[in-house]
Amino acid sequence: MENPLRQGIRLEQAAEPCTVVIFGASGDLTKRKLVPALYRLVQQRLLPAEFGIVGLARTEMSDDDFRVKMRESVAQFSEAKTVDDEVWQSFAQGLYYLTADIGTADDYRKLAGLLERIDRERGTGGNRLFYLSVAPRFYAAAVEQLGRAGLTKPKDGSWVRVIIEKPFGSDLESARLLNQQIHASLDESQIYRIDHYLGKETVQNLLAFRFANGIFEPLWNRHYIDHVQITNAEAVGVEGRGGYYETAGVVRDMIQNHVFQVLSLVAMEPPAHLGSEAVRDEKIKAMTAARNFTPERVKAECVRGQYGPGSIDGKPVPGYRQEEGVAPDSTTETFAMLTMYFDNWRWAGVPFYIRSGKHLPKRVTEIAIQFQTAPHQLFGADVMEQVTPNQLIIRIQPDEGITLRFAVKVPGQITHIRDVNMDFRYGTSFGVQLAEAYERLLLDCILGDSTLYARKDMTERGWEIVMPILDYWAGTKGEGSFPNYEAGTWGPQAADELMERNGSRWRRP
Ligand code: BG6
Repeated sequence: MENPLRQGIRLEQAAEPCTVVIFGASGDLTKRKLVPALYRLVQQRLLPAEFGIVGLARTEMSDDDFRVKMRESVAQFSEAKTVDDEVWQSFAQGLYYLTADIGTADDYRKLAGLLERIDRERGTGGNRLFYLSVAPRFYAAAVEQLGRAGLTKPKDGSWVRVIIEKPFGSDLESARLLNQQIHASLDESQIYRIDHYLGKETVQNLLAFRFANGIFEPLWNRHYIDHVQITNAEAVGVEGRGGYYETAGVVRDMIQNHVFQVLSLVAMEPPAHLGSEAVRDEKIKAMTAARNFTPERVKAECVRGQYGPGSIDGKPVPGYRQEEGVAPDSTTETFAMLTMYFDNWRWAGVPFYIRSGKHLPKRVTEIAIQFQTAPHQLFGADVMEQVTPNQLIIRIQPDEGITLRFAVKVPGQITHIRDVNMDFRYGTSFGVQLAEAYERLLLDCILGDSTLYARKDMTERGWEIVMPILDYWAGTKGEGSFPNYEAGTWGPQAADELMERNGSRWRRP
């Protein structure tokens, strides 16, 4: 058994035999991410031979049909774009398919029978991981039915875990209700709420960078940091998901979950140890200190936006209101900027500016820590003209790495000072392909490590923070005259103006 105080650090560890059951096996996530990730884990010998996968969906299909389909998916969506015959043979032997309906009790009895058969055939030892990759309205029903069929209770030293996809609720009330519903059949230790941002190598590196180095942490506070900028930009639009996006918007889709997870890792205190509870305790402690939004604060310190027609990479793209499934007078936000404060000793008075949006000029997620200027300007303003305050930029994606910007003298007889970059790049330093987030997260769950999964309190706190923003915006639809930014630009002008009022400027990554 793993040392619970060191769960956050993955040492060489053998995964136990188990069966993974994917609900929603005919869906996009299964073919794009889940099965390619499981295949890669088998290929890297990170999963034992005693391993099985059951795909479950309503579509009629045989085991063999499912195997053929999944082989195509692995070839298409895995990084290598090829399938190793030998690895595939052993992987495919453990692939099963069950035609089933989430709401039909009888189908869960069939599932129980199949799982017992797999235990006998493949020695999977009664360990089960249920992955709910279905529409959110089915999460509670699936867990309830699993419970009724006796499938949520581990038998004789085995384990049962359930991964729940996002979105976890659509507001505070529905998230609380969902937590209550799944707790009726599952213990919190069995629940793994996935947030794929936590599986990104660079997000995990935040803990290492902050707490394995001696030089950064002493500066990581209000005494040295002027403000923090978190940019989460996407070049893509809603990609045919207009119907879903109309019910979501960027605050629900990206900020409440992914961006807050990253934010909490930047703002948290050092944990006492790397056990999953200790790390998650610190994250929720930080988020509890996040200042709550009031209507006045939303009005003054948040900005919403929606893209109109424009161009990305020189190609014209339609506006959000022209996307399929979107109302022609939609007030859904595709861009948001939030100004956040943490009312605690470390961060008192330090603004955290967050922005996220679709159809911005490029895909980039980064954290920029902007330090205070030197307390005394020894060099005159004319010499310092091209100098910005020191910045530490942590690039989550793409071009993963870390940059420190500082001022140096330009060589020559005349004193001139300008900024330079000191750069670390994953690609050049390690020369390896970074693992897919789903690989890491699936393996963590099989190993029983929930450090990189969202705990109940964190999902609810995320909603608690954004609800006043969503409520205020819902009540003042007319105030945001949409569209207010052209696709392919950095969002509405109001976001830049808000920064300027605070004496700062958004970086142009
Ligand atoms: C998903 C959102 O959770 O994350 C999508 O629903 C978004 O709208 C995606 O495009 C972004 O993920 P990544 O890993 O490409 O930044």
